[in-house]
Amino acid sequence: MTTILVKDLSQYLGQEIELKGWVRNIRSSGKLLFIIFRDGSGEVQAVAFKPNLGEEKFALAKTLNLESSVIIKGIPKKHQKIEDAYELDITDVEPVQIAVDYPIAKKEHGPDFLLANRHLWIRSPKQNAILKIRHTVYFAICEYLNNNNFYRFDSPILTPNACEGTTTLFEVPYFDEGTAYLSQSGQLYLETGIMSLGRVYDFGPVFRAEKSKTRKHLTEFWMMDAEAAYVEHEENMQIQEGMIRFVIQSVLKKNLKDLEVLERDIDKLKKADAPFKRMTHAEAINLLQSKGSPIGDNDDFGAQDEAMITEGSDVPVFIEKWPKEIKAFYMKRDKDNPNLVLGADLIAPEGFGEIIGGSQREDDYDLLKERMLNENMDMDAYQWYLDLRKYGSVPHSGFGIGFERMVTWMSGAAHIRETIPFPRMIYRIYP
Ligand code: 4AD
Ligand code: MG
Repeated sequence: MTTILVKDLSQYLGQEIELKGWVRNIRSSGKLLFIIFRDGSGEVQAVAFKPNLGEEKFALAKTLNLESSVIIKGIPKKHQKIEDAYELDITDVEPVQIAVDYPIAKKEHGPDFLLANRHLWIRSPKQNAILKIRHTVYFAICEYLNNNNFYRFDSPILTPNACEGTTTLFEVPYFDEGTAYLSQSGQLYLETGIMSLGRVYDFGPVFRAEKSKTRKHLTEFWMMDAEAAYVEHEENMQIQEGMIRFVIQSVLKKNLKDLEVLERDIDKLKKADAPFKRMTHAEAINLLQSKGSPIGDNDDFGAQDEAMITEGSDVPVFIEKWPKEIKAFYMKRDKDNPNLVLGADLIAPEGFGEIIGGSQREDDYDLLKERMLNENMDMDAYQWYLDLRKYGSVPHSGFGIGFERMVTWMSGAAHIRETIPFPRMIYRIYP
């Protein structure tokens, strides 16, 4: 007997096959038993007819309940009413384990209950769909970079210094060396990698002791940092745009069913796959002020500002050329205005907010050192980083994408916590 996956049922019409999985739902009516069966790859309605299955097996099948594990044999056929859907005529049922009182029922549960049961919640159709989209986004990003001559270069998680300021650092006692920090971004290490490999990226968990309890913040999230030698500000944005559009196309190609389960407006995603908009920080401030916002000229943007900036835009918006005071020490000064840096944030439409932070990097030893001294940074801890400006320095740029932010946008999830298997937030570490 061939064991197959639900997603491949259409290739086995009329042949007896075996499925291994779980019971999503079960109901009986007289001589008929309907099992909504799932196996991770998809769902199918399996139907048992008592006279065919026999008294004993039928009674055994009826002992199955929500989330029981089960092996079912049967013959796939086309669904009578729904196009492109299939059904299974059950020929045999073998319960593997009978689940007792599965706690997540059909009724609505509050977020606290669901988060406390995250280990089970991930089985629900919407969570399953989001996790599949996450899978697509991950591999689409890697594929795009691999196709554009980037090498994977894994940066460390335990680090002696900060990448993105000291206010969100997690500290870890580190033997006789004192305190280590959990990485906020692999960027600084990637900058070493380009001097060996030209173009590099990392992709892994990063950590920020974010005090923000918003729909967009996790304390542990995944970032893909990319960095490229001889790439300047303009080309940096082109690479990002190419990558994001490739991700959108991949999700539309591979996850239509999942987007449907999530009731995601697919048209919105299709429209976002078009040339992105550009705006300087100063232009964005003007726009906000013209809409009545009290924002100051050198302020950073909050979630509401970002939503206002992208209001009416189908495509993401790059905000470039920021006041240097509100951006990280490593960003390169704009040669036309030394008060500005060549950084760009990419803001997603539909209020999904900042998904990428990137910039051209300061490649001049003296200018970088001056900026670091101004910020009272511990020069010893960053000597290796300054070395890069001493031995074959080149213009270079890079960016980091917030992976869960991207998955939130693609899936239309209401909260970033649904886009990672086990979300870490300031008020939650279990399970
Ligand atoms: O803008 P950020 O802080 O940029 C950097 O860390 C750079 N070193 C990246 C680089 O140039 N290689 O972070 C990058 C992205 C943000 O745009 C946002 O999407 C996401 O990471 N992000 C978060 N996602 C979830 N939870 C948080 N607490 C996040 N903080 C940032
Ligand atoms: Mg940022």
